[in-house]
Amino acid sequence: MSIPSPTPIRWPAEALWEALAPSLPGFTVEVLPEIDSSNTELMRRFRGSPGVEPRPEPLLLVAEQQTAGRGRLGRQWQSRRGDSLTFSLGLPLAPTDWSGLSLVAGVSVADSLEPLTPSQGGKPRIGLKWPNDLWLSTPQGERKLAGILVETASWEGIRYVVIGIGINIRAVALDPAAPTAPAAALPAIPPGGLQELLPELDAPAVLLRIIPPLVQAVQAFERFGFAPFQARFAARDVLAGRAVQLSDGTTGTAHGAGENGALLVHTAAGMKEITSSEVSVRPVAAHNPQGARPC
Ligand code: BTN
Repeated sequence: MSIPSPTPIRWPAEALWEALAPSLPGFTVEVLPEIDSSNTELMRRFRGSPGVEPRPEPLLLVAEQQTAGRGRLGRQWQSRRGDSLTFSLGLPLAPTDWSGLSLVAGVSVADSLEPLTPSQGGKPRIGLKWPNDLWLSTPQGERKLAGILVETASWEGIRYVVIGIGINIRAVALDPAAPTAPAAALPAIPPGGLQELLPELDAPAVLLRIIPPLVQAVQAFERFGFAPFQARFAARDVLAGRAVQLSDGTTGTAHGAGENGALLVHTAAGMKEITSSEVSVRPVAAHNPQGARPC
């Protein structure tokens, strides 16, 4: 008996190419049915290999399935075909200051999915947790909706950035028994799914909605840095005013992101600017039923 092939997913590759090629010369869109990690693949292509020239072109790589998806701080990123959107956007970039880029990506994706209008009032349902998470507010509490992994590499003076984004479209229980998923790598709070907020959107529709504004945001960041995005980040900042604990054990109260994207934390030793990508932050206030757990 042959294994039925999965239903093809209709990706909007052409529409995206048409929308972006004018502002991103050389831009291509590629969809792979399976790859270890879309970020790893773009880095491999950028670096080249013996006999293969590095390729610093702008490229959107969508992975229908990742076998070794990566998160921040060496964590894994689990996803399932059709239930998640996983892609990496790679492009040459030359900002004077790189700090705040993952915040800008988060702001752009959140605003594309849930535009904030003055008439809307109230609290956004999609929040941002410094530096790279999108959180969804649900009746069950706050749950991780998406994660962003920004990586850079250089070759002959060209700096290339890879912005990898994983969005849970449908929330699925993660499998602690999966051979590639040591329990320690699983988030303590089960993820949320975008369809809880926007049931009509599937992965291709989300991609089409978020990519053009994301490219625009990254280009604006290249010219102007994080500062113009600071207020948009603040409007969704889920840590602001909350007690937090840093992974080095320091505790304090989060005071938003500064002009350079650093997290401001008021600690016993005064205001600290947290910029290190090696630091993780967790809220210790009881905003969700699980309370203080790593995320
Ligand atoms: C995090 O939350 O720690 C970041 C998760 C980033 C996951 C995305 S999925 C597409 C891209 N490829 C990867 O291997 N990781 C990123």
